[in-house]
Amino acid sequence: MANCDRESVYLQLPQQIKSNVLVEGNTVLPGFVKKRYINGIRELNVRGTDVFVITWPKSGTTWMQHMVVQIIRGEEQGDDQHLFRKWIFLEHSINVQDTDSEGQYTLSEGQDSTDPRLFKTHLVPRLLPRQLTEKTPKQIFVARNPKDAAVSFFHFCNINKALPNYAGWDEFLDQFCKGLLPHGDWFEHNIYWWERRNETNVLFIKYEDMKKDLRASVLEVSQFLAKSLTDEQLDNICENVTFNNMRKNPNVNPDSEGGLGTNWKKSNANHLTFLRKGIVGDWKNWFTVTQSEKFDELSRQKLAGTGLSFTFE
Ligand code: A3P
Repeated sequence: MANCDRESVYLQLPQQIKSNVLVEGNTVLPGFVKKRYINGIRELNVRGTDVFVITWPKSGTTWMQHMVVQIIRGEEQGDDQHLFRKWIFLEHSINVQDTDSEGQYTLSEGQDSTDPRLFKTHLVPRLLPRQLTEKTPKQIFVARNPKDAAVSFFHFCNINKALPNYAGWDEFLDQFCKGLLPHGDWFEHNIYWWERRNETNVLFIKYEDMKKDLRASVLEVSQFLAKSLTDEQLDNICENVTFNNMRKNPNVNPDSEGGLGTNWKKSNANHLTFLRKGIVGDWKNWFTVTQSEKFDELSRQKLAGTGLSFTFE
């Protein structure tokens, strides 16, 4: 993928998705990312106090967002603002006030005046704000094993209007392996952040480790953010961020009105879709043996020499 240009990327996309995406260099982005935002995002004035949660999609972004907001702002008793409204989705049109004639990228006022500003993004490294490395805000990268992340994203593309329709799992997996899914190449994201993992302002954390020891993960995130928690606060946050409790909480669950609201391809009135399974190993229900073997070989090649590895069950 790294050596592909825009034209050859475009040629490799399934016909039906071409009008739903933006191809920027060799990266495919969902249609809600406008070409005119790209430069503005690159030149964003980053503050040292900002916090960024950065992921390849479906890697536990929302889970981390819920954790971070409670660590930073406390539990906010009686607050019924949806989690998604507390965060700026950096590249999403909902957060951009781009009414001037030049179509400049400007964050909506309310969000820009909050301090610390909380940003979520799925942008590939070369499209992120340049100042991320100079101003050193806190940057948390959540990584999830690529097989489960792919399965979760496949389901999300099936239900979310903002994402393209794939013909089925085989086509989707083929696009994943080529690094052509919206939000870009999983390997590009993960290897870049893995290589930066020892920087003081970077936390590289794995979904599977969060599943294995939630308390240790909340503690790790709070220490990274330099926020000390009492045992009681730690207990409460751990309780609030369990899969079941996030599912039950309408102010957190993206399925609810305040979250993605009506942005669904089909009615989801009778079933919960965003917090779908929340497990490690669901990929086994989707990958055939041949697909799994081919994928493992691709992973071995791409991750060779990096030292980055994942738990798959
Ligand atoms: P599944 O589709 O495998 O269930 P993101 O927020 O990056 O879009 O990631 C969504 C994925 O994280 C979904 O995975 C969702 O269920 C899972 N997830 C969200 N909150 C979780 C939690 N508290 N515990 C475990 N998994 C969670």
